[in-house]
Amino acid sequence: MEKIISKECVKCGKTFDFNKDIMTCDVCGIEGILDFNYDYDFTRDNYLKEVESSSRKDLFRFNVLLPVADTSSYTRTIVGPSPVIKSQRLSDHIGIKPIMIKDDGRLPTSSYKDRASALAISDAKHKGINLICAASTGNAAASIAGLTAPEGIQSVIFVPGSAPAAKLAQLGTYGAKVFTVDGSYDDAFTLSLQAAEMFNWYLRSTAVNPVLSEGKKTGAFELVHQLNYKNIPEVVFVSVGDGCIIGGLAKGFLDLYRSGIISTLPRVIGVQSEGSSVIHDAFHSGSENIVIKSPWTRADSISVAFPRDYIKAIRNVKSCDGTYITVSDSEIFNASFLLGSKEGIFAEPAAATSLAGVIKALEKGIISKSTDTAIFITGNGLKDVSGSSMSAPKPTQLPKSETSLKTLKNIFPLPG
Ligand SMILES: Cc1ncc(COP(=O)(O)O)c(C=O)c1O
Ligand SMILES: [Zn+2]
Repeated sequence: MEKIISKECVKCGKTFDFNKDIMTCDVCGIEGILDFNYDYDFTRDNYLKEVESSSRKDLFRFNVLLPVADTSSYTRTIVGPSPVIKSQRLSDHIGIKPIMIKDDGRLPTSSYKDRASALAISDAKHKGINLICAASTGNAAASIAGLTAPEGIQSVIFVPGSAPAAKLAQLGTYGAKVFTVDGSYDDAFTLSLQAAEMFNWYLRSTAVNPVLSEGKKTGAFELVHQLNYKNIPEVVFVSVGDGCIIGGLAKGFLDLYRSGIISTLPRVIGVQSEGSSVIHDAFHSGSENIVIKSPWTRADSISVAFPRDYIKAIRNVKSCDGTYITVSDSEIFNASFLLGSKEGIFAEPAAATSLAGVIKALEKGIISKSTDTAIFITGNGLKDVSGSSMSAPKPTQLPKSETSLKTLKNIFPLPG
């Protein structure tokens, strides 16, 4: 692929031929996550031409900046574009210039993870692989299960037993072989590494497969395309668990900026729950070393002790002059209710975290009322209905008799 120069270990900097079939660095082992280096001259000359002429209007149209071999490896599932909603009622309520809301809860399996799964499947199809294994808090698993089904590729999934029922229901219905692990997401992750090694399975667990963070760049590519390559937001908020989404998203903007396709670079701001803030803490300590910490947050998708993609998450956010903030679970629940009641967007807690971050950043003076802001909604509220509706008012119960109408009249007085 003339568009890609090399794969490079984020830990020791060793470079590899982009065709070399390895997942992680042979010196650093499992923490030696690889990153793809692109030829930005090639990008400059070919990216926009390909975006316009591509046979596909989904994320594969951006393939000049993706490690995708050829059109025959494209997924059968169409992934994207997700809508960009310019909020009015929500922004008026917060007292800020209209926020752009990119709602990836409307992708095929209802989360941002479809972007990465599409790339993993394309890579697996190119290599003739017929089984993909993954550990996940739930969404990445549902995504790989949903996108492998139409390809006739078997998915083998490890999730924590605490994964919300809707995510488990997706997995079973998509025909995955599902294992709930007696332990946390981090335990499921370790098991996926061991099983993939023992059975020589293709792995779609986050970070260790480097094509995943490349797929996550497409949120940036798509947003910029939808904005016609101008009026790029000054600041973009996204929630963070393992750090794969934010590392990829920030790299997407950096790729476009470094190849001269956009002339301004948004600051990407990562939002973590106070109860799962390992990347935030490392970023603010000025280090690329993390301190692993047991998580406690109701936002299950971003509940992570050992964030696997922390180096890309820290480095790429620094490169675009972004930062990290934390929010409480009650601020997350409040943000869910605001998204729903002001804009009709149902977001799972981990997804509403990005909006909670906007409100916090405004309070802290990190952004102002006139900052051009975008947020990503990374997962649909139907994935976890009780978590997503925590701040929503409960229904009013009506008695089982004619007094029901009397109750209603007290609430909605008739004229006269
Ligand atoms: C809905 C949702 N938001 C955010 C994230 C965080 O992504 P990452 O773990 O790549 O930081 C996830 C990951 O599972 C997710 O499912
Ligand atoms: Zn290395």
